[in-house]
Amino acid sequence: MKLLEIICIFFATLCIFSCGKVSLENIYPPDVIEDGKLLTDELIRKYKYPAETHFVITSDKYILRMHRIPKPGGRPILLQHGLLDSSATYILMGPNLALGYYLYDLGYDVWMGNARGNRYSRNHTTLNPDIDKAFWNFSWHEIAVFDIPAMIDYILYQTNSLKLIYVGHSQGTTVLFVMCSMRPEYNEKIILAHALAPVAFMKHIRTPLLPLGQQGIEIPVIKSMLEFLPNANLFKGICMSGQNAEEVCLNVYYMLVGKDVKQFNRTRFIMVLGHLPAGIAMKQVTHYLQLIKSDKFRQYDYVEENKKIYCQNEPPDYDLKKVTVPIAMHYSLNDYLSEPVDVVRLKELLPNVIDFHKMEIPQWNHMDFLYAFDARKLLYTRIHELNKRFFIEK
Ligand SMILES: *[C@@H]1O[C@H](CO)[C@@H](O)[C@H](O)[C@H]1NC(C)=O
Ligand SMILES: *[C@@H]1O[C@H](CO)[C@@H](O)[C@H](O)[C@H]1NC(C)=O
Ligand SMILES: *[C@@H]1O[C@H](CO)[C@@H](O)[C@H](O)[C@H]1NC(C)=O
Repeated sequence: MKLLEIICIFFATLCIFSCGKVSLENIYPPDVIEDGKLLTDELIRKYKYPAETHFVITSDKYILRMHRIPKPGGRPILLQHGLLDSSATYILMGPNLALGYYLYDLGYDVWMGNARGNRYSRNHTTLNPDIDKAFWNFSWHEIAVFDIPAMIDYILYQTNSLKLIYVGHSQGTTVLFVMCSMRPEYNEKIILAHALAPVAFMKHIRTPLLPLGQQGIEIPVIKSMLEFLPNANLFKGICMSGQNAEEVCLNVYYMLVGKDVKQFNRTRFIMVLGHLPAGIAMKQVTHYLQLIKSDKFRQYDYVEENKKIYCQNEPPDYDLKKVTVPIAMHYSLNDYLSEPVDVVRLKELLPNVIDFHKMEIPQWNHMDFLYAFDARKLLYTRIHELNKRFFIEK
């Protein structure tokens, strides 16, 4: 009831301010509007970089789409997006800012993954995501155990390499920790992993939208909105209906990821909304909410079925001692989804942290790792310097 009220007020407010007024299509620069509509590979080509699309089939038959900015002979590097996000996140801010282009310009062979269920990876050899519920029966546990290993093996095979560098953001770090603990042989396939806004323990998560999430997962409409809409068109439609609507949406966004007006190009918010949210299974959200409640980093809680699935009443913890890959952790103070207290706890439990890097700007938020004006200066150069150290050693 409470949630429904909030939603009604939200939509009513938007309508009062914006219904019937001009759409933002006419106000924003055409490039911003267009970049919100293009797909990852189209965007890359628009900015005169080479782009490839690859399909990778997992051992449980999901078909994942990967994007690549190919540099034959370059160091393979895998960039893995966070919750609700997609490969686009690593190129969205364009050739002068985005990590994908930066790495390519430095000679890396850049691969960008898409987890099962997002707009690029709604595909399976037998299941249809539009009608088969079974398609959506996965959490980030399955992304970690099936998707990331399949993508790593594919890249290593294609590039004839033994190891690659991994960069994960948010959920892209969760799946790294889960993969390396559940399938420890993958520690050996990664030279160095960068965890941007690391997420494992979640007790201290700060977003004021949390209660909304907790109630939201009970509501079937919300569930189907997340799973069955291929991308953000609904939100984008609402948020683009006028400048006041956009302002409300921007504030909701800041409530989710932390507020940092200085590092974010506000003109590009509308472009971001063309790519976010990119689609997830509700079980991913449920699994995260379970971590917040249990204050543990552990497998999905099937409640009464735990006994059958795990042979114990409680879900097993992920064994972080097995995550032996060298990891550089990059975190920040104003990240509503990855609190420093929780990050420090994680760091203490990981056996091979080679860099523990607090972003020097206190307002740095969850998305600044990808979108900030100063991301190159304050983060990407450091990523490259750390990588170089490992190239020499290995
Ligand atoms: C599904 O994957 C196949 C490749 O195995 C590809 O040809 C097809 O376009 C994909 N479909 C969608 C909707 O992504
Ligand atoms: C979903 O997957 C879990 C774990 O793989 C399995 O135990 C369960 O039976 C599945 N549920 C459905 C409805 O397919
Ligand atoms: C913000 O983005 C717009 C649209 O891409 C661009 O024209 C503008 O120069 C950017 N502002 C800054 C300060 O980079």
